Amino acid sequence: MSEMRLQRYLARAGVASRRKAEPLIVAGRVCVNGVPATELGSKVDPDRDTVTVDGREVRLDEQENAYVMLYKPRGYESAMSGPGRRPYAGELVPTDRYPGLFHVGRLDWDTTGLLLFTTDGEVGHALTHPSHEVDKHYVALVRGVPSRRELDALRRGLTIDKDVAAPAEGAVLDADDPVCRPVIPEGLPYGCSVVGLTIHEGKKHEVKRLLDAIGHKVVRLHRDQFGPLVLSGVAPGAWRDLTPDEVRAVQEAAR
Ligand code: URA
Repeated sequence: MSEMRLQRYLARAGVASRRKAEPLIVAGRVCVNGVPATELGSKVDPDRDTVTVDGREVRLDEQENAYVMLYKPRGYESAMSGPGRRPYAGELVPTDRYPGLFHVGRLDWDTTGLLLFTTDGEVGHALTHPSHEVDKHYVALVRGVPSRRELDALRRGLTIDKDVAAPAEGAVLDADDPVCRPVIPEGLPYGCSVVGLTIHEGKKHEVKRLLDAIGHKVVRLHRDQFGPLVLSGVAPGAWRDLTPDEVRAVQEAAR
């Protein structure tokens, strides 16, 4: 394990949140190799240093990386924190329990659905790297009903504002299908339809731009699959740990 700040070490060891660890450090209750460490910025090497709080040794479990699925609600920015007016998705995930969590990719502030968080830098970066993009499935409420010809155009790949978009698989869904519910909780509005779309890239506003390019403005957008993960077992605004099978699948997808 690499060096980390003492506050982070204490939070990962379950002693206190990073914020609550600070007064312990300042009060001289935390020692590193027997010497009180009262500097908030000081670093420890979990493999070599011995950390004690009030004389009792505190160890990191061989803590595995954390992998968390969030059902991002509408209105949240895909960031851990920031100066903006809107709330941040990072406020909805357990950063005290899992210091170092970060979001893997982004959803627009008005898009709902599956957002993966992890402390595993390798997996996170692999899954968002252009050479490695995983499939993502979206459900979109759009104006009008896309024709077969329009969906074929998506399948062949489009040029939007001189930018070539990779082929995307789209289909008009039956509005009674439960997968449509997140975008039509009150039923299908007049003159609209629901489209399921799988994309491989993660360019900004990709789905909205693609559907706009074939003449169908997106009214609501929801992501229900990200690589091998399917949004399930979480309510809007809630998170859960991935199951061991899901963790394995995500690690495999990142390889
Ligand atoms: N494509 C979009 O247009 N928006 C999202 O949030 C995700 C993909």
